[in-house]
Amino acid sequence: MARPIPWLPPVTTATLAAIPRSILPSPKFRSVSNSYCKLVILQEAPMKPLARTVAEMPQSGIREIANLAARTPDCVRLDLGEPHFPTPPHIVEAACQAARDGFTKYTPPVGLLSLRQAISEKLQRVNGLDVPADRIVAVSGATSGLFTACLSILEHGDEILLPDPAWPNWEMMVLSAGGKIRYYPADSSRNFLPDPGELDEYVGDRTRGIILNSPSNPTGAIMSPGLVREMVDFARRHDLWVIADECYDEFVFDEEHACAARFDGDGRVISLFSCSKTYAMTGWRVGYVACPQDLIEVMAKLQQPVIGSICSVAQKAAEAAFRGPQDSIAVMRDYYRGNRDLAVDMFADTGIRTWSPGGAFYMMVDISSASTDTYDFAKRLVRSRQVSVAPGETFGPGGRGLVRLSLATARDRLETGLARVIDAIQADSQAA
Ligand SMILES: Cc1ncc(COP(=O)(O)O)c(C=O)c1O
Repeated sequence: MARPIPWLPPVTTATLAAIPRSILPSPKFRSVSNSYCKLVILQEAPMKPLARTVAEMPQSGIREIANLAARTPDCVRLDLGEPHFPTPPHIVEAACQAARDGFTKYTPPVGLLSLRQAISEKLQRVNGLDVPADRIVAVSGATSGLFTACLSILEHGDEILLPDPAWPNWEMMVLSAGGKIRYYPADSSRNFLPDPGELDEYVGDRTRGIILNSPSNPTGAIMSPGLVREMVDFARRHDLWVIADECYDEFVFDEEHACAARFDGDGRVISLFSCSKTYAMTGWRVGYVACPQDLIEVMAKLQQPVIGSICSVAQKAAEAAFRGPQDSIAVMRDYYRGNRDLAVDMFADTGIRTWSPGGAFYMMVDISSASTDTYDFAKRLVRSRQVSVAPGETFGPGGRGLVRLSLATARDRLETGLARVIDAIQADSQAA
């Protein structure tokens, strides 16, 4: 039997990269994994190595800190993007009723027609998009839709352009689908917004698509309608697919949210939405994709190997969410706006730089005066101050020197957490 041997203390990704790949095929050292950032070498033959792409894939730093925080008593959790609100009762009740009625079987892989009709109405009502139900696929969270979108458009070795900084799961999805990523700049020096005028040089022979995300995770930045239009025009000029991650479409505080699909003249925008944040339904796993005509059959087919079909009762819950009262969204949006204002106020006059988010519920904070290693800083924060944040480096080079705070938490806890973060940055900056 192969026996994992954990080597402590945990090693960094850089250490892993330094391990000579030549030892991997040897019968003694067959596979190296950096999950949980511990080096694990499996000894003994004769088992085939695991898929290298997946074994070498970086772990999300958000998850790493979340795991540490979960084991730390009284830790204020500002790591995951997880609304603290419960799912509204009428949505829960719809699922319970469906289960009681015996609605517990497989459903069509594309999702229930009644749900897709409700989604079509929402896209019209909220996003101004005219998408019939037969161009919508209900998916198991936007995560699975994003992954199937990658599988649909990527040949082995093709590239996808990702904003830098970016939600780390996109990289994992692109790599899992056999693709490569190339970051395009959207860093703090640009207020976390891309400049379409400087993107041509990022396109190569194998570039297949670009991911857009507004409001952005991790920065909360919002692209104006004009900028979204320019980004879609850029994609059209280079014949790229656009994967538009619109998961925070209903959490925009002061500006107008524009879906990329609004500017899609020729069917290249694949739009992803989610019930997770909008209806505080993260655990129910319901998202949806609005697809160009050419792609819909492929996306529908891919549901079968990837998820089979979506949880039946969760679909009934989502249908109730779209058809029922919508006031909970405004309540949550106002709450997150209040949390944003509190955070901006608390950081004002501290000398610590932050960027006020226009939407979603994240805020980037500059910790470069306190530490040059955001992973190290985030771990120390959990251990010594009992507050958890996401290390900026997990979002790409543009996240260096920054941490991401999730503001989706109860206000009194947020206030406590922010005070701890501010104290730590100030103390570490003085000590540095
Ligand atoms: C930008 C972005 N897209 C997609 C997702 C995943 O959404 P879902 O829960 O629907 O899979 C998240 C979750 O944090 C996100 O931040």
